[in-house]
Amino acid sequence: MSNSSAPTVTFRANAGGCLSGSARVPGDKSISHRSIMLGSLAEGITEVTGFLEGDDSLATLKAFQAMGVKIEGPINGKVTVHGVGMNGLQKPEDDLYLGNSGTSMRLMSGLLAGQAFNTVLTGDRSLSSRPMRRVIDPLLQMGATITATQNGTSPINISSGKALNGIDYTLPVASAQIKSCLLLAGLYADGKTCVTEPAPTRDHTERMLQGFGYSVNRNGSTVCLRGKGKLQGTSIDVPADISSAAFFMVGASIAEGSDITLEHVGVNPTRTGVIDILRLMGASIEISNEKVVGGEPVADIRIQSSRLKGITIPETLVPLAIDEFPVLFVAASCAEGETVLTGAKELRVKESDRIQVMADGLKIMGIDAKPTEDGIIIKGGTLDGGTVLSHDDHRISMSFAIAALRSQGEVVIEDCDNVNTSFPGFIELASRLGLSITSE
Ligand code: S3P
Repeated sequence: MSNSSAPTVTFRANAGGCLSGSARVPGDKSISHRSIMLGSLAEGITEVTGFLEGDDSLATLKAFQAMGVKIEGPINGKVTVHGVGMNGLQKPEDDLYLGNSGTSMRLMSGLLAGQAFNTVLTGDRSLSSRPMRRVIDPLLQMGATITATQNGTSPINISSGKALNGIDYTLPVASAQIKSCLLLAGLYADGKTCVTEPAPTRDHTERMLQGFGYSVNRNGSTVCLRGKGKLQGTSIDVPADISSAAFFMVGASIAEGSDITLEHVGVNPTRTGVIDILRLMGASIEISNEKVVGGEPVADIRIQSSRLKGITIPETLVPLAIDEFPVLFVAASCAEGETVLTGAKELRVKESDRIQVMADGLKIMGIDAKPTEDGIIIKGGTLDGGTVLSHDDHRISMSFAIAALRSQGEVVIEDCDNVNTSFPGFIELASRLGLSITSE
């Protein structure tokens, strides 16, 4: 959600068509954030390529610049971070404004709890309504001095002064953001910090810490590190974001005659739930050219159109596809039969309430979509055209744009400004692959 009163962006996508060709979608958002955070705390230079030049990761970049870190770029995805070492950050002159980015706010809360200066973290309207107690409560247990509003939302005030102690914490929800927040605070804590997750979540923080030479131990669902170590600058090749690739994976699956290849996509097993779910629905997905770059697996993904069928989505796949559900609901709308999602309450506290907002839009487009407390039931059918609201949520905007590939009439999507948070150049890339779409 933008704070400005400037007119908002509207997408218009024409009905039908198919996708063909190959493309590399922009860099992984989660890895881009972490490259700036760890690069800043490292000793020496970190060279990043494939950095996501989206508003969210740029918010993190600007915040570290405001704390005295020299960061050059991004120029064509290349960023050079001149690390200041674990204790080299400086007090920013102003509050740190993090726009729409929950990842920046939650991870930085942990990292900043260990600094010798005070900070205030703020965000846009959407971010200011998202739950932050989930990071504040365990940080208080670690000895941090940190407050939010009475509702547990930002602004977050972090005060310096007290030493942090390591804790052994079991996450109440499967969340990589909380896990990462605590690991980053743990870098500054005395002793050992351990986080146990109820289900596997993305492990980019753990992998990247190891890439910077920091020892992280995993034992089953528990990950631990000891505080007061050092990070050594490194080079990071950010893979293409599977969460952005997901839009075209679904688009190619639902639009008859499609055949696309998405290159150099991050296929970390904690992120590939979307592939598993689409395959269970009958999608044709081939993975090739698999390799590991800087500790992260990448591959090319070829998707050809196919007849999808409705499924009951295994709950174990939910955290592994958490950002891809809006577009998976579009796949479900085009599938034969019913798709049932449960165990996905977290979707209600993302950039928007993604269960409600998608159900509302799909209903406008003539689909029988019933929200439940922790999921949704979607009956596959025929998508009509229509005007839908994205509620300023980037992934909702792009999901409805993709729905046009199978709709009977034009799809108009309002409030699409925030697409730039994760996918700059979406309109251009989608058009090149065959979606007939304009932005006004
Ligand atoms: C992210 C973790 C996920 C995801 C978000 C990015 C991260 O959130 O939805 O877009 O980079 O750690 P949760 O861990 O809160 O589910």
